[in-house]
Amino acid sequence: MTGGPEAASLAAAGPNRLARMAERVLVTGGAGFIGSHTCVELLAAGWDVTVIDDLSNSSPEALRRVEELAGRSLRFVEGDVLDEAALERAFGDGGCAAVIHFAAKKAVGESCVDPLGYYRTNVAGTISLLRAMRRHDVRRLVFSSSATVYGDPGPGACPLAESAPLRPSNPYGQTKLCVERMLRDLAASEEDWRILSLRYFNPAGAHPSGRIGEDPRGLPENLLPGAMQAAVGRLPELRVFGTDYPTRDGTAIRDYLHVVDVATGHLRALDRLPAVNGCSEYNLGTGRGVTVFEVLEAVKRASGREIPAVLEGRRQGDATEVWADPSLAGRDLDWTAERGLDDICADAWRWQKANPEGYGS
Ligand SMILES: NC(=O)c1ccc[n+]([C@@H]2O[C@H](COP(=O)([O-])OP(=O)(O)OC[C@H]3O[C@@H](n4cnc5c(N)ncnc54)[C@H](O)[C@@H]3O)[C@@H](O)[C@H]2O)c1
Repeated sequence: MTGGPEAASLAAAGPNRLARMAERVLVTGGAGFIGSHTCVELLAAGWDVTVIDDLSNSSPEALRRVEELAGRSLRFVEGDVLDEAALERAFGDGGCAAVIHFAAKKAVGESCVDPLGYYRTNVAGTISLLRAMRRHDVRRLVFSSSATVYGDPGPGACPLAESAPLRPSNPYGQTKLCVERMLRDLAASEEDWRILSLRYFNPAGAHPSGRIGEDPRGLPENLLPGAMQAAVGRLPELRVFGTDYPTRDGTAIRDYLHVVDVATGHLRALDRLPAVNGCSEYNLGTGRGVTVFEVLEAVKRASGREIPAVLEGRRQGDATEVWADPSLAGRDLDWTAERGLDDICADAWRWQKANPEGYGS
């Protein structure tokens, strides 16, 4: 991809850039929602970046804007992580210090109707990537896991620490847990693997510039993009599932964290990798749970618009409350979420207003 002038980015990135001159990170799924925001932060911190993405759920325009925001270019390989030849091209020029593995299918509902598709992409895709990493002697990995590995933790269980029981309630969550376990087995079987699995709670928001953000294909499954699309008039209404939960206002509680905080979590994880012994898991969350209605109020504050909401019954499999104890990441990775719900909504609204049809606008 073409990018901004290298001289300008060197000046902007300062000493970090010089310290990391030769270090390249391979980002699978880097054109996606979290991947694109992470690429901006990686480039700004001085990492060289190669992205492999099959664009099955993203647009090349996201990568163009990543380069524009960072003022630097990245290397892009269009391809599937299941395709050995594409992975060879991605690792091709050598010098890769680590991999961040975002590429996956992520829709809970779809995973229930197409479990094999989910196991194929998420589990077999990871095996394919790990084999390529071994061929190229790259054994440092940050893996995108998810709070869905905890399933429905039940009353009184939150905040959830990493030691909480793991019992995913859908095929998507099973694939994430399956990969976590595979990574542990791999690290135990061979020396030199250094792996961190990051269990994200509910990433949301957009880059503060409004240039990149979440652009779901079809009907959004997540609350924030659905609320934003309803606010901007792209969706006629927002469906709220369940108003009779035993919570302060009857709606379900989740832990929404800003996507830029998720991105910086990956930079901290990369910095931590050299000291990791084998494989560990960390929660990325804010430690605060908010209800659906509280999110809708925040969207209203950010957008100045009413959100046309339709109240419906509970959606099968949705837990009452899921929120994190992020203290382990605070202690070991020196990471805490710095942005709150109003930042999330203000930034998501800036993105939505400027790009009502996403990257297709
Ligand atoms: N967004 C969330 O709410 C959330 C929460 C927890 C965990 N995660 C995990 O974080 C990761 C990134 O999520 P996201 O929200 O950015 O999703 P996304 O769909 O926006 O990004 C995933 C990217 O991977 C690409 N991709 C998919 N299959 C591929 C394949 N076989 N080969 C190459 N590229 C492929 C897609 O085109 C897309 O660009 C995923 O692993 C997801 O499971 C996301």
